Amino acid sequence: MASKIVRWIALCFFLASILCVNGETFTTSNPYDSAGRNYNIDGLFCATFDSKQPLEWRKEYLWAAYCDQAGKPMGSSLCGTCIQVKNDLTGENVTVRILDQCQNGGLVLETDAFNAIDGDGQGKNNGYLLTTYKFVDC
Ligand SMILES: *[C@@H]1O[C@H](CO)[C@@H](O)[C@H](O)[C@H]1NC(C)=O
Repeated sequence: MASKIVRWIALCFFLASILCVNGETFTTSNPYDSAGRNYNIDGLFCATFDSKQPLEWRKEYLWAAYCDQAGKPMGSSLCGTCIQVKNDLTGENVTVRILDQCQNGGLVLETDAFNAIDGDGQGKNNGYLLTTYKFVDC
């Protein structure tokens, strides 16, 4: 009887850990330095599609790269869209514009955006944040 309960408890922890990991997105930072390069998006994946966008558009949100598709190319349809990214530990959030792609299965935020939701410094310490994101209107 007791061992059955122990097994159920173990199973519950196991399932909870899977659900927990699946809901979170591995998020790192990259020094795009959008302001320092005067919001010039040349060289980014979305430059082909969004280089004619006016300065106001390019500087409205900090930049991000999208790679939450496990190896599949992002495609142009996500270029220019916005996501709200929440630090799962602190609850802080930031809205960024997708202008680049990446391959690590998560997200890459411009350094200022990463720091904006890293209130407890764990992201800097660990080199990544676990986040939850959703697409939002820009
Ligand atoms: C996002 O952060 C802002 C403050 O920057 C806060 O007002 C808002 O409630 C947050 N939204 C969510 C969904 O956490």
